[in-house]
Amino acid sequence: MTFIESMFSYSGKTVVITGGGGVLAGYIAEGFLEAGARVSLWGRSIDSLGAAESKIKSRIKVPEGALHIFQADCMVKSDLEAGYDEVRNELGAPEVLLNGVGGNKGKCDFNDQDIELFMDILKMNLVGGMVLPMQVFTREWIKAGIKGNVLNIASMSSYNGLSGVWAYNAAKSAVMNLTVGTSREFAKHGIRVNSISPGFFVGKQNHDLLIAQDEPLVLTDRGSKILDRTPMSRFGDFADLKGAVLFLCSNTAAAFVTGIDVPVDGGFLTDNI
Ligand SMILES: NC(=O)c1ccc[n+]([C@@H]2O[C@H](COP(=O)([O-])OP(=O)(O)OC[C@H]3O[C@@H](n4cnc5c(N)ncnc54)[C@H](O)[C@@H]3O)[C@@H](O)[C@H]2O)c1
Repeated sequence: MTFIESMFSYSGKTVVITGGGGVLAGYIAEGFLEAGARVSLWGRSIDSLGAAESKIKSRIKVPEGALHIFQADCMVKSDLEAGYDEVRNELGAPEVLLNGVGGNKGKCDFNDQDIELFMDILKMNLVGGMVLPMQVFTREWIKAGIKGNVLNIASMSSYNGLSGVWAYNAAKSAVMNLTVGTSREFAKHGIRVNSISPGFFVGKQNHDLLIAQDEPLVLTDRGSKILDRTPMSRFGDFADLKGAVLFLCSNTAAAFVTGIDVPVDGGFLTDNI
């Protein structure tokens, strides 16, 4: 085994990615598969998981049996427990939990915020997107003595709230806060907890907020402001996330790294006058 393989090979390791039908999850899954992992994608809709599986297989060669899908609502503890059991039996006990559930719906002035919608977004990003899956996985890991690790997805809005997306801001700042707190609590079990904060990647949810027209490309006012404040002057390419993820989830390369967030943002957070 080469030095690089000893740091970054995921051969023989099992990774669970929630929100598996999502855009980010698909590219991150691809990175883990390319590094030799077995990957299980979890999501609510078996159709979108099947579509995600096909997309991945159209982009890279996936070894037989290395990619698994499981229908689970991450807000439902019994679904998560059933998923853990199935993955342990079919692929081997998972050692990485990548929490990929989350997202935003719309944008409004604070006083126009619908409270039901606020609660939905908060719960999706914080409870389904982090708390409940982490509870299920870390209980199992502690019981079995597995030194697993969790990677949460925070956001630019964890650092400084973005305008008009109140519940998303509240949830993502909490994701970062709880990443730090839980890393402290689980360190004694050898379990690490970190997060990444993707900058601006054009996905399903934010496409219309950023792009007014695809061809020829016309940005919205918000999209232009973001690029003006991104020193690398572009939106993220989803493949940009793979390196940070493979580093943080490697128990060799990141053996002594816990409770941190790695922004992958083209320098957006450095913006200043
Ligand atoms: N796209 C970006 O630019 C960007 C930037 C920063 C952070 N993020 C974060 O990255 C994560 C993934 O974002 P994305 O752009 O890929 O979004 P996406 O909407 O493409 O993926 C999210 C997936 O989660 C699934 N999901 C929602 N609730 C669920 C539940 N209860 N159980 C199971 N699955 C559920 C959705 O069906 C969807 O497939 C989110 O946390 C998002 O906030 C994205």
